[in-house]
Amino acid sequence: MKKLWGGRFTESLDTWVEEFGASISFDQKLVLEDLQGSLAHVTMLGKSGILPAGDVAKIQEGLRSLLQQAEKEELAFSIENEDIHLNLEKMLIEQIGEVGGKLHTARSRNDQVATDMHLYLRKEVQDVIAKVKDVQQALLGQAEQHVETIMPGYTHLQRAQPVSFAHHLLAYFWMLQRDAERYQDSLKRINISPLGAGALAGTTFPIDRSYSAELLGFDGIYENSMDAVSDRDFILEFLSNSSMLMMHLSRFCEELILWSSQEFQFIEMSDKYSTGSSIMPQKKNPDMAELIRGKTGRVYGSLMGLLTVMKGLPLAYNKDLQEDKEGMFDTVKTVKTSLSVMAGMIETMKVNDGKMGQAVKQDFSNATEIADYLAAKGLPFRQAHEVVGRLVLTCIEQGIYLLDLPLGAYQEVCPLFEANLYDVLQPRAAVQRRNSEGGTGFDQVRQALEKAKGYL
Ligand code: ARG
Repeated sequence: MKKLWGGRFTESLDTWVEEFGASISFDQKLVLEDLQGSLAHVTMLGKSGILPAGDVAKIQEGLRSLLQQAEKEELAFSIENEDIHLNLEKMLIEQIGEVGGKLHTARSRNDQVATDMHLYLRKEVQDVIAKVKDVQQALLGQAEQHVETIMPGYTHLQRAQPVSFAHHLLAYFWMLQRDAERYQDSLKRINISPLGAGALAGTTFPIDRSYSAELLGFDGIYENSMDAVSDRDFILEFLSNSSMLMMHLSRFCEELILWSSQEFQFIEMSDKYSTGSSIMPQKKNPDMAELIRGKTGRVYGSLMGLLTVMKGLPLAYNKDLQEDKEGMFDTVKTVKTSLSVMAGMIETMKVNDGKMGQAVKQDFSNATEIADYLAAKGLPFRQAHEVVGRLVLTCIEQGIYLLDLPLGAYQEVCPLFEANLYDVLQPRAAVQRRNSEGGTGFDQVRQALEKAKGYL
């Protein structure tokens, strides 16, 4: 078959080489964006007097008919036509005749593909943001039920201080809020038009770039034609924002996995998000959480992949840039499905507040309370810390906890201790009293919940 660029050539590609170079197997995802871009371009050509109105009308009609066929998934693409752009141009010419060949006036595949990618990411990023909100909503739903559910808070994965389970969940709410804001901010850079940059240097035709940008809903145009066709920083930013988001999801998944283990038993995942073992009948595995944790790796991989593709590229377009697509498509799919699974897992998990409450009674996570107690009575905190350290050691030696130690034993090491110490030592009190801004005290958590709702 004769190539659209066949004029200069006397020999053709072997099929397997053609296949190596072709992107149609994956860039057909851009079919709608490509047609929208072409419609805007040809409309601009008409308005600028570059093409006669009659030709423009025929091309528009052809493109609209292709759009309808594309929406019904009726278009059959071929590898000989390399990519989505050449496939569609060929189809247009087949449908409306030679006049279809005028569409590519004052345009190159280089500004065309960049335009498609901007349109595609604009849509997908908005979708991703909506899905991040769904997860935030799910977190809020659980948090509202568990303001006064007490669990051990950890540092170094060692019991540290008791916290409200809602407070723990809200920590993720705010991480996701920043993720959503990062995506939102990136739209400023995604929503600008490369169209009209031509192959790299602009065009001799009197085009109106702002007009085609406006038709496509872009907020502005790239200032520099070489920049417009050769940078992929807007995709890198998406991959980077997605890596950050997946990192957050992955950390939470790690906790869900730990919490559903026999050792913790803090939560039980719904059967809808768990699987069994083919050999061990007792097993209930948190597969979906593990998969999100695992898929984080491939998103990081796409980011590293594209950064590496880009690092040595001279201006302007190079075919290496075709490698920007698969990682981006894969990331869109991975992030969107991970977010949906995440929201479902959070909504349906059963929280075992009994186990959490029991856990904080069998540890030393209230030790800071005694140190604070003494410090509030005027003992320098460093000395108070030392005193409590010794008391903890005594307890460990006797196999008891701080609440079990008699007042006499406390007073022996420090005369400042009084009977009200035991109220302070209650895990619930330890949480409730941490009423500093952003802390885990119930009042703080309730305020945070209200504030968080305002973001959705
Ligand atoms: N399929 C190409 C890509 O994805 C489209 C641009 C091709 N441009 C060119 N000059 N070969 O990057």
